[in-house]
Amino acid sequence: MCGIVGVVGGRDATPIIFDALRRLEYRGYDSAGIATLVDGRIERRRAAGKLDNLAAVLARAPLAGVTGIGHTRWATHGAPTENNAHPHGTPRVSVVHNGIIENFETLRRELEQAGHVFVTETDSETVAQLVDFHLARGLSPREAAFATLRRLEGAYALAMIFAGHDNLLIGARHGAPLVVGYGENEMFLGSDSLALAPLTRRIAYLDDGDWVMVTPDGAEFFDASGERVERAVRTTALIAGSVGKDGYRHFMDKELHEHPVVIGQTLQRLIDPATRRVMLPDLPFDLAGLPRAAITACGSAFYAGLIGRYWLEGMAGLPVDIDVASELRYRDPPLTPGGLGLLISQSGETADTLAALRGMRARGQHILSVLNVEQSTMARESDVVLGTVAGPEISVASTKAFTAQLSVLACLTIAIGRARGTLTAAQEQDLVAELLDLPSRANEVFDQAPAIREMAAVVAEARDVLYLGRGSSFPVAMEGALKLKEVSYIHAEAYAAGEMKHGPISLIDSTVPIVATLPSGRLFEKTLSNLQEARARGGRLLVFTDTEGEARLRGLAEIVVALPTVSEFTAPVIQTIPVQMLAYEVALLKGTDVDQPRNLAKSVTVE
Ligand code: G6P
Repeated sequence: MCGIVGVVGGRDATPIIFDALRRLEYRGYDSAGIATLVDGRIERRRAAGKLDNLAAVLARAPLAGVTGIGHTRWATHGAPTENNAHPHGTPRVSVVHNGIIENFETLRRELEQAGHVFVTETDSETVAQLVDFHLARGLSPREAAFATLRRLEGAYALAMIFAGHDNLLIGARHGAPLVVGYGENEMFLGSDSLALAPLTRRIAYLDDGDWVMVTPDGAEFFDASGERVERAVRTTALIAGSVGKDGYRHFMDKELHEHPVVIGQTLQRLIDPATRRVMLPDLPFDLAGLPRAAITACGSAFYAGLIGRYWLEGMAGLPVDIDVASELRYRDPPLTPGGLGLLISQSGETADTLAALRGMRARGQHILSVLNVEQSTMARESDVVLGTVAGPEISVASTKAFTAQLSVLACLTIAIGRARGTLTAAQEQDLVAELLDLPSRANEVFDQAPAIREMAAVVAEARDVLYLGRGSSFPVAMEGALKLKEVSYIHAEAYAAGEMKHGPISLIDSTVPIVATLPSGRLFEKTLSNLQEARARGGRLLVFTDTEGEARLRGLAEIVVALPTVSEFTAPVIQTIPVQMLAYEVALLKGTDVDQPRNLAKSVTVE
């Protein structure tokens, strides 16, 4: 959730750390801080709020030193104040932490009894105080770090520096990601390879439970029992240059405009356009023999999974269980051995999804993950990864990753349908043709920007908004409501259109706009009746339909956005783009911090 970085080498550490923190700010932005070693002493600068505040502090009080650690925080324990900002420590040690130390209260009590004085409300300070306790007993940094790690429960990625040890960083990971970067006579620690991308592409990943001693000459890895282990150095494919706004006002706007490209790029990996067939990579299991699938994910990725369920059940005839990962991991559903465990995640690091992956593996599922970050922890723990080729997604609210996930799920559905015999070769070719048409249809959605802005003006005035959809448009409505909440702070609720009569209809009056996603097709008439019921009760209807449905809605809806008409299969992909655009436009009107909305973080690596 938080971002951590460490540098040891010959150059001025602070600018390197600060620059890396910029690339990690998507993980949290409640506060930030840097500590370095200056003539063997630990010096530190911290600030509440965004990194710009830390920049101002550093401008007033520069920080020298060639070895240091930095942190961007997403608060779990303790308010996002300067005092609670990382790094935490004592004159002997300074620590940055991502995760939650679950037994921090016990440890804190023990340490307080031993005379340690805590100065923050954080769980993380416990780590620093415990290391300090061991250093004070005469242990070396290595021994003190190991003794500390053995006592920690919960999730952590840690980086530490030690007074009097100018050329040493110690890192550790347990349930939260940490990578080691290899430079020329300098070495790095980072929460992900993106943070280190301009510094080095040579990366080693710590396995869960590993810890590492890093000096300018290299890294020594140890496992949880303290045994020396080797971890491979790989060259990552990430290109730092792609992490820019490219002239857009916000990353969210830039990433919305990337929908057509990422759909195209993602499909290109999985489709042979000449034969119009889906070509999955070699799988270590047989698609035809799958008894059922269990899908899990969090946030927007979960809604992509819900659309995947409509497809997999309806077109491939595969029974699907689906649940959000935070529920699934403690629900212990009986899964049929040999089933498909299907995980969906942009980051590949979301703590609940990762835990659900491990639970599924333990219950005999074949693990197939749909991931955007292909070097992530989930990628390394999956049997098969189907990549979404969305490129770095920086805006905290996910946009382009969603349609890329749908592109993969659509191809997977076709492949499973073919393997199970529910789809013929000719049907596959037709469906593939529909998919290949998506990038250009997606481009046409942007022609509707003026009408979407008109809708935004209505929504921006509301306190509550109801989103309605039926069939695979229902998860699209959920995505629309989530996006609106996230970036505009307006309360929104998504309902299956047919359920409206069982409750939300009582909310309807002229102050609660109803945003409906209503593509033409089998379910059009049914949902139209629900909209008529809402209209009859004074509801203001704002409807996303297609060119075919448009005429039927004129006169009924206040604003109609007519999207390109596509098949029922691909409609949710097209419909998602404008509901996300609507949230963006409302956020602009409300003047919120679009790319970094309050309280959120992009990568939720704590439970
Ligand atoms: C956070 C983000 C969402 C994202 C969710 C799941 O809540 O703000 O945009 O959908 O995490 O993240 P993942 O990386 O697993 O897709």
